[in-house]
Amino acid sequence: MRLLGRPGPLRSTALAARPPGRLRAGPWRRGSSRGRLGSTMAEEAKRLAACAAVDKHVQNNQVLGIGSGSTIVHAVHRLAERVKEENLTIVCIPTSFQARQLILQNGLTLSDLDRHPELDVAIDGADEVDSDLNLIKGGGGCLTQEKIVAGYAKCFIVIADYRKKSESLGEKWKKGIPIEVIPMAYVPVTRALTKTFGGAVELRMAVSKAGPVVTDNGNFILDWKFDKVHEWGEVNTAIKMIPGVVETGLFINMAEVVYFGMEDGSVSVREKQPR
Ligand code: A5P
Repeated sequence: MRLLGRPGPLRSTALAARPPGRLRAGPWRRGSSRGRLGSTMAEEAKRLAACAAVDKHVQNNQVLGIGSGSTIVHAVHRLAERVKEENLTIVCIPTSFQARQLILQNGLTLSDLDRHPELDVAIDGADEVDSDLNLIKGGGGCLTQEKIVAGYAKCFIVIADYRKKSESLGEKWKKGIPIEVIPMAYVPVTRALTKTFGGAVELRMAVSKAGPVVTDNGNFILDWKFDKVHEWGEVNTAIKMIPGVVETGLFINMAEVVYFGMEDGSVSVREKQPR
């Protein structure tokens, strides 16, 4: 793990050249939301992580994957700022309806995998990140498109606040591993999951709609609350073999770098260790 420390102006090059430590401020912190009414510490942490990642990894003429959730909103804002200030040419591939809207609302260039089947960088949030950079994702139900976009990116970068940083999956995220399923199969998939792996499985229910959450792909989400630590790579592969499963929220060995915004205003960086 690398801790970034006390930079002055934070730009990609400045950050890259900086020795390990704690990162304290960048141009995006000046007049920042520090004193903004209603801004929580976690929200500020998300913003710090997002800005650090965008400044470090985004360059001119890139094809960029845009994740989903609340943290990515800050990344898109910073991206739009940089595109305007630096006149960058960036093409954005969304991972959800939300991401598509964000791209359009921020005046960024929207594209798709038909036109850009290979991405330079994908940036996304996570629900939990373990010490090996394995992730649980899908708290917002967008895991399938998120995994597709991240999977076709040369580099997958994760941004998160301090509450997502753990040693072992399940330590922080208690809502289970999201699994997208074809609606007609949700009962047999539920039975197969509990029979094979134990734990409990819940069909995710909508809040302002009667019935289950329906994903952007027209499917249901099962949340699997596991009762022990598994070998996540094997479990992920095995779950994907269950008929009716579309995708899991386990992102194993995909992330290159994770930026965590911390409670003290610094940004902590976890990098993939060479094997
Ligand atoms: C969307 O389905 C998720 O995978 C999100 O990327 C993840 O839940 C992180 O969301 P927040 O940025 O809102 O924490």
